[in-house]
Amino acid sequence: MGIDLQELRGYIVDMYSDVALLPRGKFHFPTGRPLLELLGYAPELLDKIPIGAIESFAGVGYHFGLEPLKEGERVLDLGSGAGTDAFFAALHVGAAGSVIGVDMTDAMLEKAQENLELSSLSNVRFQKAYAESLPFDDESFDVVISNGVINLSPVKETVFAEIHRVLAPGGRLMFSDIVTGVELPDSIRDNCALWAECIGGAQESQRYLRLIEKANFTIEATSQNERYRFAQDSTLSAAEKFRVHSISILAHRN
Ligand SMILES: C[S@@+](CC[C@H](N)C(=O)[O-])C[C@H]1O[C@@H](n2cnc3c(N)ncnc32)[C@H](O)[C@@H]1O
Repeated sequence: MGIDLQELRGYIVDMYSDVALLPRGKFHFPTGRPLLELLGYAPELLDKIPIGAIESFAGVGYHFGLEPLKEGERVLDLGSGAGTDAFFAALHVGAAGSVIGVDMTDAMLEKAQENLELSSLSNVRFQKAYAESLPFDDESFDVVISNGVINLSPVKETVFAEIHRVLAPGGRLMFSDIVTGVELPDSIRDNCALWAECIGGAQESQRYLRLIEKANFTIEATSQNERYRFAQDSTLSAAEKFRVHSISILAHRN
């Protein structure tokens, strides 16, 4: 592993601060409402989410169809960005449930907070945290969701161990992420910019599923987000060469 965690975090924070502050900018990945509709989010539910959150959506898939959220569930959104998935989850779990979104990028958290204040939702909150060390008690959530985030961590085993720790027995992990069809060469893996674009840190899909199982989860379902495409030619060619693609995964905690 040739990547430096602190340097990588700098690249990630720069990249996603731009997505928060300049949502109409040009990125190597798609963003915003057109992407959400392409992935399968119901437009009538998106209409209930503040547009400031929607415009900075930078997820990669739609995992909510894998097992519907239930009223009253306690949800953690890992890498919640500007908050779209957290708001979407809050609409499903209702007033008896709760959603906490965590992210490491201040600009994203500030945007999520501003949009929360514009919404009528009282069952959501956002706080700063790293996926690798979650500031929550053991067994405090029923569901962990995440969208386009775990590929960005160079210590994915630690992230899955943390998710396992904070999930209650019988809880589930339901998330979307970028994976590859073949192992990436070191020249791509060691490139912080490609990593922040959700390519460099992507794992070969079978190896990724084994990593999740090793963290003591049972994988119940996977599906490909076939409509997800990187947005710029340079990224597209790397994506095609290494069969970089988006999947959604449902895994139960053992
Ligand atoms: C591709 S964006 C997706 C944001 C959001 N899930 C969405 O769907 O719009 C990745 C987000 O994960 C956050 N992130 C990346 N690595 C993280 C980590 N180790 N801990 C916490 N947040 C992280 C970034 O700051 C960024 O907001």
